[in-house]
Amino acid sequence: MVAELTVTRGVLLARGRSLLEAGGVDAARREALRVWSDLAAAGAPPSAAWIDAAAPVSPARAAEYLAAIDRRAAGEPLAHVTGWTGFRYLSLRADRRALIPRPETEGLVDLVLARVPRGRVADVGTGTGCIGLSLASEGPYEVIGVDLSPEALALAAENRRIAAVAGLTLVRGDLCDPLRDDSLDALVSNPPYLTSEEYAALDPSVKSWEPALALDGGPDGLATLGRLLAEARRVVRRGGWLALEVDAARGGLTARHAAGLGWTDVTLHADLFGRERYLLARRSDAG
Ligand SMILES: C[S@@+](CC[C@H](N)C(=O)[O-])C[C@H]1O[C@@H](n2cnc3c(N)ncnc32)[C@H](O)[C@@H]1O
Repeated sequence: MVAELTVTRGVLLARGRSLLEAGGVDAARREALRVWSDLAAAGAPPSAAWIDAAAPVSPARAAEYLAAIDRRAAGEPLAHVTGWTGFRYLSLRADRRALIPRPETEGLVDLVLARVPRGRVADVGTGTGCIGLSLASEGPYEVIGVDLSPEALALAAENRRIAAVAGLTLVRGDLCDPLRDDSLDALVSNPPYLTSEEYAALDPSVKSWEPALALDGGPDGLATLGRLLAEARRVVRRGGWLALEVDAARGGLTARHAAGLGWTDVTLHADLFGRERYLLARRSDAG
């Protein structure tokens, strides 16, 4: 019988890094560690992987790690390979069923927390549930997460269980259809906002892996967003807030559109990279 060879963790991680470099992955060292830590234990800091670099790794675990590295080196998103991603304080499951949460979306949650003291908030186009779960866990809110995609809602429900957040209700529907008139203190959304042309030109590392429904906003990028701006006036109560992620190139256009529909106090805010990516507006007390 031939004994199966074991490798040390340090040797395996170095192999992972060189395979990722060969695959053109920019942050190869960091991602080699991330794959290890996410496969080993969700939420463990990647640096922990080096704590015992001399530890032997069983052949089965080494094979699992190298299979994951191969997928990443072939272009699959890191979050799909490991099945995990981070958003604010949460570790969330991620896969093909929904958009992978982006770091630039995290600031939208801060804008709502700073303005809406309590109450009922809807997260329209909830995807993984990242915005809705953050609001329900960080603020005194009752949150309704809406999505048209049953697949995304199934993933959001898994994330709700993993995050152990009680205050998020998930509902399938088209934009504001499932929401009652004048029922919300705030409506938050990161809707699909790329033009169809921009969507078609997306890098395959995004387009081949993430749902078109999450990204393609129609010929002018405003098909879903424009409808949402109009419909939200029915469901946000007087004095309530609208908080949207918008395309940085079309912030001004979207703001003018919102003002034309009667939204007041329309302002644009920068994301963590300094791009005007968030639109805030209020439904005036007068109507
Ligand atoms: C850009 S993704 C945002 C996902 C998540 N909120 C985030 O920030 O990562 C847009 C989401 O809107 C959903 N969506 C698209 N059109 C919709 C519609 N008409 N009604 C409800 N949800 C819709 C998509 O399924 C997708 O989950």
